[in-house]
Order: sequence, then C-alpha cells, then structure tokens
Amino acid sequence: MAERESVGIVLLGLGVVGSGVARALAEHAETYADRVGARIELRKVLVRDATRERDFAPDRSLITTDAAEALGTDCDIVVEVMGGEDPAREYIQKSLSRGRWVVTANKELMAKYGPELRAQATAGGVDILFEASVGGGMPIVSPLRRDLSANQITSVRAIINGTTNYILTQMTREGAAFDDALRQAQDLGYAEADPASDVEGFDSAYKISILSSLAFHGHVRVEDVYREGITDLMPRDFRYAAELGYSIKLLAIGQRDADGVCVRVHPALVPKDQLLANVDGVLNAVQVEGDLIGRVLFQGAGAGSMPTTSAIMADVLEASRSIVHGSRPSPWRYTADMAMKPISQLTTRYYIRVEVSDRPGVLAEIARACGDNGVSIASVIQKETDDEAQTAEIVIMTHAAKEADLQRSISQIEGLKDDVRKVGALLRVED
Ligand SMILES: NC(=O)c1ccc[n+]([C@@H]2O[C@H](COP(=O)([O-])OP(=O)(O)OC[C@H]3O[C@@H](n4cnc5c(N)ncnc54)[C@H](OP(=O)(O)O)[C@@H]3O)[C@@H](O)[C@H]2O)c1
Repeated sequence: MAERESVGIVLLGLGVVGSGVARALAEHAETYADRVGARIELRKVLVRDATRERDFAPDRSLITTDAAEALGTDCDIVVEVMGGEDPAREYIQKSLSRGRWVVTANKELMAKYGPELRAQATAGGVDILFEASVGGGMPIVSPLRRDLSANQITSVRAIINGTTNYILTQMTREGAAFDDALRQAQDLGYAEADPASDVEGFDSAYKISILSSLAFHGHVRVEDVYREGITDLMPRDFRYAAELGYSIKLLAIGQRDADGVCVRVHPALVPKDQLLANVDGVLNAVQVEGDLIGRVLFQGAGAGSMPTTSAIMADVLEASRSIVHGSRPSPWRYTADMAMKPISQLTTRYYIRVEVSDRPGVLAEIARACGDNGVSIASVIQKETDDEAQTAEIVIMTHAAKEADLQRSISQIEGLKDDVRKVGALLRVED
C-alpha cells in the first residue's frame, strides 16, 4: 500500500468551536503529523458569512459559503461544528454516503439521530465520532465506548450543563435568586440570550440520552428522558438543603435495574460529602458505576473553544490513524433489548417544601395525606413563619417512596385548601 502523505479535512462551521479546530490544525500541524504519520490538511471551511471577523481564520481561499463546494471537496474527514438539526444532518448524511468519516460536536443530532447515522457510517465502512457532543473537553464518550465496555453499567449520574451548574453554584454560595444568577451567567458569556435549552434541562436531556445509549447498549430516545428544569428553585431551598447536609444540583441520570432503564433530568439534593456535590461553576462531571470498575468519576471543562477542540481533535486523530493505516472501524452494536421505566416507577427519597396556614392540626393533615398513599415521613422541620399573614413553611424529608405514591400524596396535600397555600418545592434526593 502506497504511503499516504496527507489526510484531508473539511470543516463545517468556523464559530466558537470551529475557530479553535482551525487554530489547533494550524498551530499543532507538526505534532499531529508525527502522531498520525501523515499531514492533516484543512481543505475547505463552510460558513454562512464569509466577511465575518473570526477569532482565528484560515487562509481566505479555504472559506466558502457554498455547501455544495464544501461537501464536494476531496477529503477524508468532515468535521461538523455548525450545530442545530438542519442542514447539519443532511450534510453529515451526504458526507457518510461519500465514504467520509465524520466528527461532530452536535448533541441534538446525535441524541435524535445517533443510531441511524452510526448505522449509515458502519454500512459505509467509516465511523461517526462524537466525543465533543457531551462534556466538551471532558472525556466520556470514548471511555464508555471503549474503556468501560467490559462492565455491566448500572448508573450514569452527570452534571453536564455548565450554565445551570454555574447558576446553581451562585444560588448556593451567594443566596442569589434564579433571575440574578442567570443574568450573571449571561454577562459572563456562560448563558445564551435565550437560556431555555439550558435552564429547562433540554441540553442535559440530549446529553444523557447519548450517554445512557452508550452505557446501556440500547437506544434511549430523547422523548424517553423525564425532564425538569431549575427555574422554580428558590434561594431558601438552597439554605434548607445546606442545613440538612445537601447541595442542589441539576443531575442527568441514567439507571438500570432488573425492571429496565430510567433516564431523567431534574434538580436533586446531593449529600455534601459526595464528589458530585462539590463540582461547582461551569465544570462538568460524570460518575459511572459498573460491576467491574465500581465507581469512576470524570470531571473537566464542559464547554469553551479550546476544551471542545481538544475532544474534536482527539476524534480527528483517531479517524486519521485509521485512514492512514487502512483499518476499518469496529462497528458499534446496540445489543440490549431495553425496557424503559417511567419516572412513576422510580423509588427515592424526597424533599418537600410546603407553605401552610399557621394553625394547629395542619401537620397532622399533611402526614395523613402521605400515610394514606404509603409515603413515610423521615423528618419535618418548621422553617419560616409569617405572623402577620398567619402562614408558616415546613420542610419534609421522606423515607424512600415510589414516585407514583409521592405524586398522589402531593395532589392530596394540594387539596387541603384551608391549610395548604402551596407546595413550593418537590426535589428528589440522590443519596
Ligand atoms: N461552544 C461550545 O463551548 C461548545 C461545546 C461543546 C459542543 N458545542 C457544539 O459545537 C457546535 C458548534 O458550536 P459553536 O459554539 O461553535 O457555534 P457557533 O459559534 O454559533 O458557530 C457555528 C458556525 O457554523 C456556521 N454555520 C451555522 N449554520 C450554518 C449554515 N447553515 N451554513 C453554513 N455555515 C453555518 C456559522 O457560520 P457564520 O460564522 O458565518 O455565522 C458558524 O461559523 C454545536 O453543535 C454546539 O452544540 C459547542
């Protein structure tokens, strides 16, 4: 076989991540050539606006706004860092059908269409690599695909959205209200002008569907991920949680037991002595539990131009080595016949904050509502009282209970119209 001198790259997108990739390709060219055994050559870059100022821009002659020209350029690997569903999906499908390897950072696409894109890649004797789609620079996709693949994985617990983790950290440390913490995150460039995808938990849902699919070897669809965001959390929930020995984190969790797989995203109380409780600011972390490995924790920068470039370039180098050595990728197989468990079947402990009328007998009514539905109360603390309004606030910690039973209790508590103003918070406890 003739020795290859170069591996050709077409880059789709030259924004935050794409500029980092272009810079790394230029500044680390010699190192990469040594590691791969051939030069990695940037051959075309697709953008929307060719006149825009860039953090790092390759030679002007490489930049085009013509998708057909970019996709028609002779190359081995297409790196998709445009984002969004369309036309990214179409461009990736075209690239795979032309026998190109694909490297992508696109979580939405991989969460929704991962299985079909991977099947297309396998059929064409190439691969689609997506380390950067979850956790930015923190390695997690490759460890699940390779290093942990000998395990029966029982759970993946993750903080995989830096924006919300920053907001929750500010609410914990400074007692900030949600809106103020969000504004700070926006001022620092950690949150988008439209933060819905982050704060409503969609971004985490895409990512945990990808991680759970890898961990459990079956396709976890985004629609099967139970999702709650962080917009209703109040500063006092953070205070009460701290008094009880917990931090509040937006967790993305995939769990498997004999009955099936339950995948969920919601704010949760995490004991302060657990590693995940201490992952603060924009950091990401994923804790995986497997039968052979026990517990293992990955932590690192979940976003940003250069950390994400680190993940993209690792995939580019892996693909390049396979291309240079003429090796075929080992096809990925979803082997599990997986039953999905709805959240109603979850069993966990709960934190409930209820605003009540400040008069005798209320607590007994609430305890009865729980008891009637098989929910056992572990502790009750009366928190703030407003003498003028004659209201009080109580915080209840339950023993482990079924979610369906707990929800029935909550409906019954909300029905105590004379005694209960509202159920202010319901948070799951992840011990
Ligand atoms: N930013 C991060 O820290 C991070 C971390 C992990 C993963 N990701 C993922 O990486 C991907 C890119 O993110 P980013 O932050 O780099 O986005 P970005 O800054 O908005 O850049 C997107 C780039 O794609 C180009 N583009 C978008 N739509 C296009 C179209 N229809 N035709 C041609 N070019 C198009 C844009 O061109 P113009 O420049 O001309 O507008 C821009 O250069 C996303 O999937 C994101 O989820 C990002």
